[in-house]
This record gives sequence, C-alpha cells and structure tokens, in this order.
Amino acid sequence: MRVLIVGNGGRESAVAEKLKSDSRITRLYFANGNASTERLGKNINYARISELRDYALKEKIDLTIVGPEAPLVEGIVDDFKQHNLRIFGAKSRSAQLEGSKTFSKKFMQKYGVKTARARIFDSFSKAVEYVKKEDYPIVIKASGLAGGKGVVICETLEEAEAALHAFMISKMYGDAGIQVVIEEYLRGFEASVIAFSNGEKLFPCIPVKDYKKVGNGDKGPNTGGMGSVAPSPEFTPTHFQDFQESILFPTLNGLKEEHLNFKGFIFFGLMITEKGTYLLEYNMRLGDPETQSLLALLENNLLDVIEDCLEGKEIALKFSDQKAVCLVMCSGGYPGNIETGYEITGTEKVKYSHLLYAGAQYRGDRIVTSGGRVLNLIAKGSTYEEARERVYYDAHQVKFDYNFYRNDIGEF
Ligand code: AMP
Ligand code: GLY
Repeated sequence: MRVLIVGNGGRESAVAEKLKSDSRITRLYFANGNASTERLGKNINYARISELRDYALKEKIDLTIVGPEAPLVEGIVDDFKQHNLRIFGAKSRSAQLEGSKTFSKKFMQKYGVKTARARIFDSFSKAVEYVKKEDYPIVIKASGLAGGKGVVICETLEEAEAALHAFMISKMYGDAGIQVVIEEYLRGFEASVIAFSNGEKLFPCIPVKDYKKVGNGDKGPNTGGMGSVAPSPEFTPTHFQDFQESILFPTLNGLKEEHLNFKGFIFFGLMITEKGTYLLEYNMRLGDPETQSLLALLENNLLDVIEDCLEGKEIALKFSDQKAVCLVMCSGGYPGNIETGYEITGTEKVKYSHLLYAGAQYRGDRIVTSGGRVLNLIAKGSTYEEARERVYYDAHQVKFDYNFYRNDIGEF
C-alpha cells in the first residue's frame, strides 16, 4: 500500500510513526511534511488540492489520511473521492462543523448538544448593542477559520468593542471575522475527546488534556497547544458519561439527520463546569498535540482501525493503561512573531522519549527550525510523574537558539 498523509505538524509525524512499521505499507508520502516525515518517506510540495490529487493518481496512492482542517474545509475528501481515491477525513459539508462557528453553533442548538448560550451577528452595530447588555467576561469568536486565533475572551465592554471592531471592521482575519458568535463565558477545565467515525457510529478515544496557554500555570495567550497528557487526569468516567449523553449522542443524531455523516475523525473540545460538560467546538480532525500522546497509548493497529472505519465496520479501540506526556518545544516569540532557520542539535542524546519534528526541516544534513512549534518529545510511564521526568530529561538535551517550552506539562 502507498499511503499519503496530508499535513506537516507533530500530529502528522505521530500518525506516520504509528504506520511506519506496518508491513502492508510499501511507501509513505507526505504533503508537505517535515524533518521527521522526510526520514520515513517522501515529502512533496503542493499548492492546490487538484495538484495533489493528480499526484496521488499518478503515484497510485491507496489511502490518504488528512491532518489539518484547511484542506478538509476546501473539499479534499470530496475531490479525491470523485476521482476514486480512498481518503479518510470529513467531506467539506461536514467540515463546516469546524470551518464555520455559525454553522456548528446552529447545529448544536438544533440538536440539543450542550453548549454555551450564544448569539450570531453579522452587523457590527447590533453586535456592539448586544455586548453592552451582557455580563462579563464574554467570549467573541470569528465564525471562520482563523488559525486558532479567532477567539477572544473579553473582560470589559471596551475589550469586546475592540475585538468586534478588529474582526468585523478591520477584518484582521479577512472574511473569517465578518460574522461572529458571541457567547457566555464558561468556567471550568477543558478536555479533548477525539472519536473515529465509520460513517454510522462514533468511537471515542480516551480523553486528553491539552495545555493551550503559552506560559506556565496557564498564563498568557492561547497557542495551538504546548503539550498534552493522556489520559486526561481530570476527566473522570462520570464526566465521560455526561459527555456521551449531552454531547456525543445528540451529535450523532444531528449528523444523521443532516446527512453529515463521514468517515474520519471528529474532535470534541470540551469545557467541564459545575453545571456539567459543555461543547466549546468541533474539530473535524485529530488534535495537535493531543494525537501525539493519544497514539502513544493506542494498542490497535492504526491502519486496521482506519480501514475498518472506511468499510463501515465496527471498531473496538484499546488503550494501554500507562500515562503519556507530550512536550512541545517552541521557537522564541511563539505564538507571536518568530524567527526560523536555527539549527537543532543534541537530539542524539534523547534517551527516554520519542522525538517527533513539527516545524523543522532538513537543510542539507542539518535540521533547522521552520515554525513556531518545532518538535515534540513524547514519553510513557506507569505514572504521570515518570512520563513527565522522561520528557523533561530529554528536553534538556535538545538545543536550538531561543527555544522555550512550558515547565509544567503533566504536573498536577
Ligand atoms: P474554540 O476555538 O471555540 O475552542 O476556542 C478556543 C479556546 O477559547 C478554548 O479552548 C477555550 O480555552 C476558550 N473558550 C472558547 N469558548 C469559551 C467559552 N464559552 N468560555 C470560556 N472559554 C472559552
Ligand atoms: N490542540 C487543539 C487543536 O488541535 O485544535
């Protein structure tokens, strides 16, 4: 089998790592890939989906797995299927559950998926009028894709007006912000639950904790994720039951009713409050860096699971009862402006963890930084403490200029 993985982050490196020893796979391809994937297969560049599809046809790719949201929303799955290419991921209409917060909020409201009280606006003046009357903090979200930066938690009316202005008038995220979702602020802790879909049913994995804020103790701006632990130590079986009843089952019902069923991943971004579990958002893909710690514990053969889902079969997911910790090493300045091109050294001294590159590329024989989240260290242990000590021991060995990482991943 020839397998193509779309994406270039640590998540895609983790999927590749899980597949690389499968004897059925003769060659792995990555679009666009990174330094890890270059070692495991062939990295290819593409600009348009049609270009990638033509390449997949030419190379006789047997299976494509899509990592990031943008190609899903753009319709990569629809396009590949039209050309009889097998692909695992949500079709574009279903990917709107991630691509449009307006669409997903209406879906949640229609099917009784427990979520924050919200209103949708496309008029700036009406939105401003609304935030004048609401309690604070209040959450303002750009409806479209904004690279994970389209959510602002506003403490005051001035901040809310500034956010609305930035989204709707200055259009800092282009068309993504001309419509906004304004919702009540929920207080609690977050958890990520990723499920496989076989087109009929959803099969949830163990819950994962993502560390979203850039600084220790959850301080500073939101990022794509600074680390993850699996299973989430906070999300108990009682929470899981609540999640199933208030979120998973109504979602499945809605997917059926709206003919949005698909074969791929769905990710539930949850907020657990005193009043129960709420859905903050759907992502129609694996999370990054959730996937890195999740796949470290997955005992099933990943290719089998994906094949079974594509064939509409039932799957039974199995996870090790160990703990996994993933630490993200970043370029200085992330999630703001960063400089890239710094050489990464010391990786040969990594002893206890698995090192996966994300924003890093080969330059000749050297590996240099090329993004904000540069690499991941993933370790397992019988306790969180053990896994945590392993990744931090190894993090001290890896060097590149201006690198930084959180010191409290896996600490409770
Ligand atoms: P989203 O892209 O909708 O998941 O939002 C990104 C992040 O903003 C979430 O992971 C939360 O940390 C935060 N957030 C989103 N919505 C709310 C809310 N209603 N109340 C509190 N925090 C929120
Ligand atoms: N770590 C959150 C995400 O992948 O969206």
